[in-house]
Amino acid sequence: MTDLSALKGDLLTRISAAPDEAALEAVRIEALGKAGSISGLLKTLGTMTPDERREKGPLINGLRDEVQSALAARREALAEAALEARLAAETVDVSLPCREAPEALGRIHPISQVIDELTAIFADMGFSVAEGPDIETDFYNFTALNFPVGHPAREMHDTFFLPPDARGERKVLRTHTSPVQIRTMKTVEPPIRVIIPGRTYRCDSDQTHTPMFHQVEGLVIDKGSHLGHLKWILEEFCKAFFEVDGVTMRFRPSFFPFTEPSMEVDIQCSRKGGEIRFGEGEDWLEILGCGMVHPNVIRNCGLDPDVYQGFAWGMGIDRIAMLKYGMPDLRPFFEADIRWLTHYGFRPLDLPTLAGGLSA
Ligand code: DAH
Repeated sequence: MTDLSALKGDLLTRISAAPDEAALEAVRIEALGKAGSISGLLKTLGTMTPDERREKGPLINGLRDEVQSALAARREALAEAALEARLAAETVDVSLPCREAPEALGRIHPISQVIDELTAIFADMGFSVAEGPDIETDFYNFTALNFPVGHPAREMHDTFFLPPDARGERKVLRTHTSPVQIRTMKTVEPPIRVIIPGRTYRCDSDQTHTPMFHQVEGLVIDKGSHLGHLKWILEEFCKAFFEVDGVTMRFRPSFFPFTEPSMEVDIQCSRKGGEIRFGEGEDWLEILGCGMVHPNVIRNCGLDPDVYQGFAWGMGIDRIAMLKYGMPDLRPFFEADIRWLTHYGFRPLDLPTLAGGLSA
């Protein structure tokens, strides 16, 4: 007859060592299944003499009960351990900060922000926004703006030329936003008051120049418009944009083929401590070119320069963005580095308005 205590020792050891439900079930079947070792012993009871049965019965039944309760205890322990493991794995640290929603994480690029800001300022003065194509004809980019053919000013622009088309014409990536002056004067009845923000292109690259950059052009065409109007508009713009109570501006004579007279404009600033401040200081900083629209340009657009006069200006958007928000290098503007955008970008729901504060 089987050694009951050896069988018991073996079963109890394997039950307590069973690593999971499946292993435990295998031990149960081996002991208590139809062909199991304990089931086999129970069957022998029927063949025993009453005396034998009286002796062995309690031992075999006791073994069965003991193995059954060891199985139940182990099953419970395994279930508890599984629950503990799951709870540990699914722990939520409620003290962690919550993840920000996309609308809170996203950032508006400083260029877009500055375009929104200057659009708000000029809209308040009655200007609307005009746009034109980035790929321009030589006519709009140069000829209609009074650049004579072969004039050195064309070379000054470091123009990107496209390959000649079927008619042999070489289009250009516009070198400034001024061609949209022509497009506007040809299609809009004066009085005209527009600003033209947009991308411009020149073959140039260093800390303050990139091959693609942004300008905003301004154009006013009306009867009797004069330099006094231009000066007032530019001063009001600079005060509003740089968010200061007053600016001192200096108009220096310059040359552009499409304006006569032409000027470059500096604003007074201080550069103390490596920081540029407007409305104070002894230094000057150039921020734009401007002038009275040349009579030839007005005539090229089919208007009579004896009836209509106007003025225009062109300003680098990237440059005034760098000045206002203290960004020392232009190149990262166009590198799409999320760390730079997170640092210098603006929250999408903080729309610039004159009433609410531009950069508040
Ligand atoms: N188009 C000029 C440039 O890119 C800037 C400019 C100067 C625009 C004078 C104007 C202006 O409208 O009147 O350098």
